[in-house]
Amino acid sequence: MNNTTPPTECKAWANLAHHAESWRTVRLRDLFANDVARAVQLVAEAPGVRLDYSRQRLGAITLRMLSHLAVDRGLPEWRDALLSGKKVNSTEDRAAWHTALRAGGSLPPEVHATLERMKSLSEKIRSEGKIRRVVNLGTGGSDLGPRLVADALSDGALDVRFAANVDPMDLRRAVDGADPASTLFIVASKTFTTQETMANAMAAKAWGGRFFYAVTANTREARSFGATEVLPMWDWVGGRFSVWSAVGLAAACAIGFDEFQELLAGGHDMDKHFADAPLEKNVPVLMALCGVWNTNFLGATTHAVLPYSNALRLFPAYLQQLEMESNGKRVDREGRPVAYATAPVLWGAEGTVSQHSFHQLLHQGTQVVPCDFIDFDLEQNLSANCRAQADALAFGTDDPSLPPHRQYPGNRPSSMLLLEKMNARNLGRLIALYEHKVFTQGVIWNINSFDQWGVELGKEMAGKLLSGGK
Ligand code: F6P
Repeated sequence: MNNTTPPTECKAWANLAHHAESWRTVRLRDLFANDVARAVQLVAEAPGVRLDYSRQRLGAITLRMLSHLAVDRGLPEWRDALLSGKKVNSTEDRAAWHTALRAGGSLPPEVHATLERMKSLSEKIRSEGKIRRVVNLGTGGSDLGPRLVADALSDGALDVRFAANVDPMDLRRAVDGADPASTLFIVASKTFTTQETMANAMAAKAWGGRFFYAVTANTREARSFGATEVLPMWDWVGGRFSVWSAVGLAAACAIGFDEFQELLAGGHDMDKHFADAPLEKNVPVLMALCGVWNTNFLGATTHAVLPYSNALRLFPAYLQQLEMESNGKRVDREGRPVAYATAPVLWGAEGTVSQHSFHQLLHQGTQVVPCDFIDFDLEQNLSANCRAQADALAFGTDDPSLPPHRQYPGNRPSSMLLLEKMNARNLGRLIALYEHKVFTQGVIWNINSFDQWGVELGKEMAGKLLSGGK
């Protein structure tokens, strides 16, 4: 686990750099034409999710070399450390044990007790009818996760809204048409000091808000603010990994507690797969390896995520925090500046809407953008579009009679995640899949994926400006 040499200095990296040279001129169209088995061989299965990476610009040998790199970087040992709650977050001297929040039969007692409270609170709120609007006040990980789950899966039993921005317009919209007498605010903030969230909580009081719950690690502050129910967060759960904790209360109110448990079960399914599947069949690991290949050896600087599902329209925004706050790092675990690229810029939007917006650049732009397509089997119209886009990117056109502006060069890599349908279980699996992908890449890049010091300077400077300093 303590391989402190930079990855670029290990043999596997040098071999990959050499190997990448031979891929510069290889065309996906030829690979598929010359190897009919490619489409069935470059696939892997995790519970509920099939990964097809045959449209990536790599082969079985590349994968083997990337796996050697992962082993050389100590991935199996790091994975065990993560999953057993060891202190993998070195700069903050703490664990990143979000997997314990969805551990099925072996939940830590405090997690079990918190889930019981979430169950009774969410069921009471949904059944009594006294509360008609729930407004989650939080930002970053205290907002994006529950917002994603609620937006994807709400059953409409309760009106659940979110306000994250310090711009008063956000809260105004969230309470629009609501009555303070039937509105519950959930102030979700691990620290209970985040400026935006605290400003919104005060503004909610000024609006006439009477009912406040809190989800926080700072119980004292939450009580003195006036929260009547305070649910815990733990220092061993990072904000961007906290949707599985009581931060998910607003989501549980929106989808019902049974469905929330399905989400947890989906996360646990993926944890077991990540823990047990051999690296060359391990879906999060394979996705991480494809990403490292594209970023560090083929020179991609951005990465697009394209869920073909309106329910997942917020997934790219969720992943932006997960991936870029985790792996947007410039020094390694030893504090040395890294001499290689870490997280690419992640962006994306729901298909098919995205097709009429930025796909022009994906097909004919000067930058090659590796994509993840997320495809749902039961949605035929969406699925046909999704596959057509992936094929068009991979194979382009082969018709010399077309004028230059109608040519599609193709050879643009993508992976396809195929799920049967959109439900809580599969959403849990998807989120956990990306969490483990991010972790695996962090291990290969020798960075700490669990801190976020880069956000502090701007907060301090804004604080000074607000208090009249310069
Ligand atoms: O500023 C970044 C950040 O610390 C995120 O990591 C976190 O999810 C978000 O702010 C919200 O923090 P808190 O839950 O403490 O309000």
